[in-house]
Amino acid sequence: MAKVAPSILAADFAKLGCEIECVSSADYLHFDVMDGNFVPNISFGFPVLESVRKITDMPLDVHLMIDSPSRYVSEFAKAGGDIVTFHVEAESSDKIHKAINDLHKLGKRAGLSVKPATPAEVILPYIDSLDIILVMTVEPGYGGQKFINEMLPKISNVRRIIDSRKVMCELEVDGGINFETAKLCVNAGADILVAGSDVFRAKNKDEYISKLHQLVR
Ligand code: DX5
Ligand code: ZN
Repeated sequence: MAKVAPSILAADFAKLGCEIECVSSADYLHFDVMDGNFVPNISFGFPVLESVRKITDMPLDVHLMIDSPSRYVSEFAKAGGDIVTFHVEAESSDKIHKAINDLHKLGKRAGLSVKPATPAEVILPYIDSLDIILVMTVEPGYGGQKFINEMLPKISNVRRIIDSRKVMCELEVDGGINFETAKLCVNAGADILVAGSDVFRAKNKDEYISKLHQLVR
């Protein structure tokens, strides 16, 4: 069964509490942090995460699209993140190792994300200590973009790497996920589907999530 992580970036923030309640059958709640530097857009940060933490028991899957993420991972973990994923392109190698360690010391899961143009192999030096690898299937920065089909071989490649190394690491995909692209991603080896626009646009969000749940490799 595929796991589903609705991205609240696509929610109506004026009624965020209700929106989160509507997707409570999902596995994780995806929380997109953007700083206006690593990506052009600015979204939300600590105060919103702290408020969301208070109203839900769902595991919070924080996706940091920010520069120098190692400076902030612990703070996001303490503010309520259960999984904290940051971008390999945004940090130096020694700081990536340190950030992963910092998260583990706090009892949190650590994830590394790759932009569409970044080859999958860049995660190899970190793979033994990672809990999540997040393959971006759109250019990070905005919800509602079209899925990049060329990412499918990369997803398969990461799947092969995870399986051959026999590591306990989940493969997450993010961006442009709808029912059709979700199937392609799961067939290519994805474990977790992040979906924003399509989930929050759905009339019956529970039904939509359950449809995604039924996808199997
Ligand atoms: C893009 C974000 C995604 C995005 C997904 O930078 O990381 O999580 O919100 O939204 P949709 O499903 O609309 O592409
Ligand atoms: Zn995301």
